[in-house]
Amino acid sequence: MIKNDRANFGSKIGAVLASAGSAVGLGNIWRFPYETGNHGGAAFILIYIGCVLILGIPIMVAEFLIGRHSRANTAGAYQRLAPGTQWHWVGRMGVLAGFLILSYYSVVAGWTLQFILEAATNSFAGKSPTDFINAFSSFSSNPWQPLIWLVVFLLVTHFIIVKGVEKGIEKSSKIMMPVLFILLLVLATCSVSLPGASDGIRFLLKPDFSKVDSSVFLGAMGQAFFSLSLGMGCLCTYASYFRRETNLSKTALSVSAIDTFVAIVAGFIIFPAAFSIGIQPDAGPSLLFITLPNVFQQAFSNIPALAYLFSVLFYVLLALAALTSTISLHEVVTAYLHEEFHLSRKSAAAIVTSGCIVLGTLCSLSLGVGKGYTLFGLGLFDLFDFVTAKLMLPLGGLLISIFVGWFLNKRIVCKEISNNGVLNRPYYRLFIFILQFIAPIAILFIFINGLGLF
Ligand code: PHE
Repeated sequence: MIKNDRANFGSKIGAVLASAGSAVGLGNIWRFPYETGNHGGAAFILIYIGCVLILGIPIMVAEFLIGRHSRANTAGAYQRLAPGTQWHWVGRMGVLAGFLILSYYSVVAGWTLQFILEAATNSFAGKSPTDFINAFSSFSSNPWQPLIWLVVFLLVTHFIIVKGVEKGIEKSSKIMMPVLFILLLVLATCSVSLPGASDGIRFLLKPDFSKVDSSVFLGAMGQAFFSLSLGMGCLCTYASYFRRETNLSKTALSVSAIDTFVAIVAGFIIFPAAFSIGIQPDAGPSLLFITLPNVFQQAFSNIPALAYLFSVLFYVLLALAALTSTISLHEVVTAYLHEEFHLSRKSAAAIVTSGCIVLGTLCSLSLGVGKGYTLFGLGLFDLFDFVTAKLMLPLGGLLISIFVGWFLNKRIVCKEISNNGVLNRPYYRLFIFILQFIAPIAILFIFINGLGLF
């Protein structure tokens, strides 16, 4: 292993939690339900799970081993492992993807702060589903309010990034994740017991394959990459802080399992409630924000104190889950600028934060006053989402599989997977076979069909 003085995650559980903290975020609780709603429900979920198993887990292990072996930022990693080649462009594309995702992701993360404020001032009380729909659309299209929250959110992320790896990232993940799980389970239980919830449960569990077309596959693959934080060097950067004893395959399995579990529980919160109050499942990015306040109001209508408590707690945890993800996105770009351009961590972070404030502002305005401005028929917010989740991340995944499957010396791969011969590696051959053949062919096939390339 190449040695240098970079920081380490303090404990094993810290490594898993920090990676899970990156993976679990708005992607699971906000994006997964609305993509599921857009793509018809249960069949999408099955294809999504297929993508996690066949593409997600092996590519995550591949990213981990690139990061831990090279102990560098994502572009530097390829330079160390494949000097004199063009592979470092995979890393650079990842950095760009991270920067773009952070810009529009922070807009939605900012919305969660507004909802904390509304929950804390009890302004959900006594409102009807239509009130929530109207309130959200006037908030998200307001030119100023979302921008203020966007800036606040990015500054908090910035502050944690500047404080360094171990103290900031690890500590925060350790506390937040377990509390978030418990609350999600409580809310799912409430949601499935609402009147008329059974239609939502059916939507989640009964696949209708007649609705499956190539866009469903592209959506599911993109969602898998986005939700697992894959294909852009984020987990590679985190793995560069892993310890030598961390079991990479086990960590990838745990992170994927936690991430998928949270997404599906989020589905069980959103859809039963949406069907119960008559909100369309394909309402798009607003789905979470217009559905959830109703869950709090209706499920606890007899106990307003509980409605108050749970709604405040939920939005605080949602904001924190988003924060562990924005930290990881920010870290990828900051580590790259810091190590490749010899900037101090502080200046590198300041450049990233300012850039994201500018782009995030444009994304936020594209949902309101700037609605008329489109590129390829999409506003900037939707364009960033499409280009990153459905193009750049899967393309990154494709190249990572080819890099580890075909290019990287198998001795290095073996050494990293077995922790220098200490661990058994029963699935090694299958892992290499997937990276060499299955993943590249599947991703190309989904691209070609989903984008109508031929
Ligand atoms: N996986 C994160 C989420 O689900 C988003 C993310 C994508 C984070 C890519 C890092 C890299 O919210």
